[in-house]
Amino acid sequence: MIAECPGAPAGLARQPEEVVLQASVSSYHLFRDVAEVTAFRGSLLSWYDQEKRDLPWRRRAEDEMDLDRRAYAVWVSEVMLQQTQVATVINYYTGWMQKWPTLQDLASASLEEVNQLWAGLGYYSRGRRLQEGARKVVEELGGHMPRTAETLQQLLPGVGRYTAGAIASIAFGQATGVVDGNVARVLCRVRAIGADPSSTLVSQQLWGLAQQLVDPARPGDFNQAAMELGATVCTPQRPLCSQCPVESLCRARQRVEQEQLLASGSLSGSPDVEECAPNTGHCHLCLPPSEPWDQTLGVVNFPRKASRKPPREESSATCVLEQPGALGAQILLVQRPNSGLLAGLWEFPSVTWEPSEQLQRKALLQELQRWAGPLPATHLRHLGEVVHTFSHIKLTYQVYGLALEGQTPVTTVPPGARWLTQEEFHTAAVSTAMKKALPLLSLLYFLVFPTCST
Ligand code: ADE
Repeated sequence: MIAECPGAPAGLARQPEEVVLQASVSSYHLFRDVAEVTAFRGSLLSWYDQEKRDLPWRRRAEDEMDLDRRAYAVWVSEVMLQQTQVATVINYYTGWMQKWPTLQDLASASLEEVNQLWAGLGYYSRGRRLQEGARKVVEELGGHMPRTAETLQQLLPGVGRYTAGAIASIAFGQATGVVDGNVARVLCRVRAIGADPSSTLVSQQLWGLAQQLVDPARPGDFNQAAMELGATVCTPQRPLCSQCPVESLCRARQRVEQEQLLASGSLSGSPDVEECAPNTGHCHLCLPPSEPWDQTLGVVNFPRKASRKPPREESSATCVLEQPGALGAQILLVQRPNSGLLAGLWEFPSVTWEPSEQLQRKALLQELQRWAGPLPATHLRHLGEVVHTFSHIKLTYQVYGLALEGQTPVTTVPPGARWLTQEEFHTAAVSTAMKKALPLLSLLYFLVFPTCST
């Protein structure tokens, strides 16, 4: 049977722009009717009820009766979970909620404290934005979170369509679908969408599908179940289809079976095979003609990977400056500007790359002296390099070390600089790149006293 084209599934509420959009889409990429949607919801939710992971933000969302506190707890988790794995987020989330259990607590925290707690999670602007949002709720909205996805997105800085929908559905029970990376993959497979999910057309289609599917009786659970399925079963590589609750509704699985039969010669133009039937020419949701079906990939054919720009490459020189202190050795840290990459975080004095090592040393020494006064140039040693990839930048740090021995320790430093013990360093608001650079300091002693270890 060839699915009818075009076809609007009967009886399902749609937003106007989705009606226009989906009218031109083959029903092969849509849900056929209410019965199919109901079956999808039922299977996914029963699976979730049995298999869902016990995660701290889920407990809070279930147990917290105060809507503002509940929404805040969901908001924090959703921001932390953007670009970060669940396993990493758990401890950060628990620490955050202990320190700032309410919006009011977070609103009165300093950026320094926020960065300190966020250190190691990456994408630091997320923490700052969260705090700015909490301040706005407390200072301008009477401490009450906006109650719908539309107003959350409109009124809170840094809250986009996904986060707004997640908060509104999980905390307030609004029947609004959401699409993150995991949900996008699930939907692409379930409806055999092979085109790049980050393209505008496919993305609109996915949001339309999510809105159509979300269960009005349990929207928060439904959205989390779709995320959970993508994270644990319908994974990017090696998905576990035999454990999938919606396998029987999955067009990617049907396509795999159909291709296997075709390859074995048992299928020859059977009228029961469902296929995409576009109105005109090539369907923009199917696999692109330039990347046809690959038998070795199975369901992983869907979706095809977005063409990602490689990160921009940049270089810096940084120096770990050490001096003796009353409580052990101290290292100098300076604070980054309050905007831009790694805003407000602490780092070893650093300079951008210079075209020769000689110029680089000169610039670095000048930078160090700006903070610590006159220093012996000859003691500056190159220790190695550290590579760290931030969101869109691959930064290579040339790491230098300089140990001040036998001179009066520097005690006064300008604002924006401070001396920390190694212990203090580990709990300060420093980026992962600096944490990777510090261990190189031990090499300094081998370079300065090469016979030390014998
Ligand atoms: N990823 C994003 N939101 C999530 C949630 N609420 N639970 C698990 N993983 C998620």
